[in-house]
Amino acid sequence: MSAKIIDGNKIAKSIIESVKNKVKSMKEKPGLALVMVGNNPASEVYVNFKEKDSKEAEFYCERYNLDEKTGEMDLLKLINELNRNPKIHGVLVQLPLPKHIDEKLVTDSILPHKDVDGFTSLNLGNLLSEKTILAPATAIAVIKLIESTGTRIEGKNAVVVGRSNIVGKPVALMLLEKNATITVCHSKTKNIAEYTKKADILVVAVGKANLIKKDMVKEGAVVIDVGINRIGNKLVGDVDFENVKEIAGFITPVPGGVGPMTRAMLMENTLKAVELSSRVLQ
Ligand code: GUN
Repeated sequence: MSAKIIDGNKIAKSIIESVKNKVKSMKEKPGLALVMVGNNPASEVYVNFKEKDSKEAEFYCERYNLDEKTGEMDLLKLINELNRNPKIHGVLVQLPLPKHIDEKLVTDSILPHKDVDGFTSLNLGNLLSEKTILAPATAIAVIKLIESTGTRIEGKNAVVVGRSNIVGKPVALMLLEKNATITVCHSKTKNIAEYTKKADILVVAVGKANLIKKDMVKEGAVVIDVGINRIGNKLVGDVDFENVKEIAGFITPVPGGVGPMTRAMLMENTLKAVELSSRVLQ
């Protein structure tokens, strides 16, 4: 049996359409600031997409491309200005930052209600209290893609491979909140296959091309591939898609799976940030 392919492009498109329609009826345009430091080629591609999406949805968008040598204090000053700017509802600083800048310090300088990436300590911490206001876009995308299959998460064995603060850990917490039984595998896990083979839901976010092979996957599993790896001119995920699709029940492709859905979730988070801005003292 061949897996059903989860079409992230299609689902994301309908979400972006609904964001656009909401924006049309808003008095004030959602304002998103995109900040990038240096010339990391992958970051440039991602930020270009985010800018294109926000323009298409008729957001008010400010983009800052700062020099690689920009000092930490100058970056913090810019974020402070954006925090105070009433036209800006969401502030996104693209990661990674150059080595001389403390990423955590910078991320935490964004006001939590403008943190459309959901990366501030407060927003990440809120994942524990089940009172999330702005959660990381990729993690929300993963949950929505699982739910799009009609799979009930409650009671399922969910295995997350990867423990990054921006994907693996938030996804694990969100699945736990939905009453799945969670296992998190990482680079020090002795025999990953032993765990992945038991997964009804398998989420992979490590950045290693084709790490997950067919014999590591349970028949009928929902497989969500967050990885984006470049092999020559081709983009591939962390899952050996061609072979795993023969055994999985549902699987996301790369490209066209989690990526477009993450972008759609960023747009939704920006709409949420507009709503939050009306509930905080300015
Ligand atoms: N770098 C890789 N993924 C992301 C993301 O989702 N947001 C930001 N700001 N940087 C990233």
